[in-house]
Amino acid sequence: MIWAVIALSIVGFALLGVLVWWLFVETEGVYLGQGIVTWLYDVYATRYDSIKEYREDYEHWFLAIPIMDRIEPKRPITVLDLGTGTGRLPLALLQHRDFEGRIIGLDLSKEMLKQAQTKLAGVPNVTFIHHPAEQLPFEDATFDLVTALEMIEFTSNPTQLLREAHRVLLPSGLLLVTWRKNVFMPGKVNSREHFANLLVGVGFERITFEAWQVDYEQVWAVKPSVQQGYRI
Ligand SMILES: C[S@@+](CC[C@H](N)C(=O)[O-])C[C@H]1O[C@@H](n2cnc3c(N)ncnc32)[C@H](O)[C@@H]1O
Repeated sequence: MIWAVIALSIVGFALLGVLVWWLFVETEGVYLGQGIVTWLYDVYATRYDSIKEYREDYEHWFLAIPIMDRIEPKRPITVLDLGTGTGRLPLALLQHRDFEGRIIGLDLSKEMLKQAQTKLAGVPNVTFIHHPAEQLPFEDATFDLVTALEMIEFTSNPTQLLREAHRVLLPSGLLLVTWRKNVFMPGKVNSREHFANLLVGVGFERITFEAWQVDYEQVWAVKPSVQQGYRI
C-alpha cells in the first residue's frame, strides 16, 4: 500500500512539474494572463539576449535583408515593431546599410524596453514606447512596415493585434509576423491555415510563409492598396 502511495505521489509531482514548465516556460505565461507574461519578461529581461543567443550575422541575413529586399522603391520608411523586446528588429534594420527612416519599438515589459534603450542609446531615429500592442496609439495609415516577431502567440487577443496592425499600416504597407510551429497551445493560433485565415479576416492579402528558425516561420502579408502609390 505504502509503495502505491509513493508511486502515485511521484507521478503526481512529475505531472505537476510538467504542467508548471508548460505554463511558465513553454507557453511563457499566456494561459495565466497578460500580467504574468509581462512579469516573466521583466524578470528575464537582463538574461533574454544570452538565452536567445542572437547572432548579428544571422539577424542581418535572415531578418534585415529579407525586409530591405521587399522595400521597393527604395525610400525612407516608417516602421513599427510590436513586442520589440530588447530591440532585436531595430538593431538589425538600423545596421543595414540601405535602411533609412524611423523605427518605433513598442512593448509591455518595461525591463525589456530598458535593455533595448541601453543598446540603442543615442541612436536618433529609434523610439521605444511602453504600450499594449492590441490598442495602438497611432493614427490610421501611419506606417510602411509593421513587425511582430515571436510575440503574437503570447498575446491574449491575436486578432485584435492584427486588426490594429492593419489599421496603422499605409495602403500597400507590409506586415511581417512570425508563426510558431511544433507547439501545443490549445485555443491559440496553431495551424498555418488558421493563421492565414486570421490575416485574411482582418483584411490582409498576399500572405506567404517562409522558413526561418527552428520554432518559427516568417509570415509576410500586405495591406491592399486603395490608391495609386508606392507598392512594396
Ligand atoms: C519572445 S519576446 C520577442 C521579442 C522580440 N520581438 C524578439 O524577437 O526578440 C516577446 C515580447 O513581446 C512582448 N509582449 C507580449 N505581449 C505583449 C502585448 N500585448 N503588447 C506589447 N508587447 C507584448 C513581451 O513583453 C516580450 O518583450
